[in-house]
Amino acid sequence: MDRKDEHVSLAKGFHKIKENSFDHVRVIHDSLPQSAYHQTSIATELFGQRLTSPFFINAMTGGSEKTAGINQKLAILARETKLMLATGSISAALRDPSVAHSYQIVREVFPEGILLANIGAGSTLEDAKRGVDLFNANALQIHLNAPQELVMPEGDRDFTQWLRLIEEITTNLDVPVIVKEVGFGMSRQTMQRLLDVGVKTIDVAGSGGTSFTQIENARRRKREFSYLSDFGITTVASLLEANEIPMNFELIASGGIRHTYDIFKALCLGANAVGISASILNHLLVNELEDTIALVQQWQQELISLYTLVGAKTTADLKQVPLLLSGENKTWCEARGID
Ligand code: FNR
Repeated sequence: MDRKDEHVSLAKGFHKIKENSFDHVRVIHDSLPQSAYHQTSIATELFGQRLTSPFFINAMTGGSEKTAGINQKLAILARETKLMLATGSISAALRDPSVAHSYQIVREVFPEGILLANIGAGSTLEDAKRGVDLFNANALQIHLNAPQELVMPEGDRDFTQWLRLIEEITTNLDVPVIVKEVGFGMSRQTMQRLLDVGVKTIDVAGSGGTSFTQIENARRRKREFSYLSDFGITTVASLLEANEIPMNFELIASGGIRHTYDIFKALCLGANAVGISASILNHLLVNELEDTIALVQQWQQELISLYTLVGAKTTADLKQVPLLLSGENKTWCEARGID
């Protein structure tokens, strides 16, 4: 089976609503909120673009006929609910132009959308430009996936040029760059090194949802790395790490977002926007497209209610909401010197 098709079917097979770091975050609400539903805006801003929703569809797929159909549905979903949408890594199209259409379809379906191209961290500036040109992307995501590469027998083994290449792309590309993980999270040290080379937007993509060590391991008979199934820094811990950095930058939360309450908590933890992959893909794969559109619309409505509940009139106001951390989140804070 094509690798991209296999990722989709394994992600579906492994997807289950499981406990994760967001379950150990409690929101301390105000019983007398100074807010009204009709005065509340859930819009946010990323790289100078206004997003009407604070959540978006994060990088997943493209590169085959089957995934073209998925990207088409994701683009209709994005168009009907006005969400930002990222395609999966465009490296397949750079190798084989005959599959370019499986990515370009998102622009055909949603001409005025905020659409992101995605590429691996070992890619050159030239590849990055070709990726953006593929469908006139509004921004480029560069993904970091060292644990996944190491579990794949055919994966990269030399990561020494990644930061240099990221710097070159960030400095020279005409569109904004987002550096993201793929479900393993990031420490403050990693984020600081990215910021030091000029990166302005970081998606922590933490653990607690899709696990690419689990997916890659399941693709082969010889299971060498089964102990790495839940490897990584959780999404909540990664956000707490980000908040320790004494620099302003755009923070995106993703990894293990299951429903509106997780989106809400991630925004309270300081994220400017929240990315969702598996929860949307799996809903789409087992339901009609209209049902997934209705679900996203429900999330948008629910978010307005949750903002109102804590007296927030804007997404930025959520950063002031007091939270209580427990379980592994608390241990993480103690061990890492986070107040
Ligand atoms: C992904 N993800 C991903 N990320 C990336 O940067 N480039 C890619 O090509 C892909 N491909 C991909 C395929 C499939 C089927 C899934 C489910 C995911 C990772 C994704 O963007 C995200 O970082 C993780 O999935 C964690 O988020 P969720 O799935 O827990 O919401």
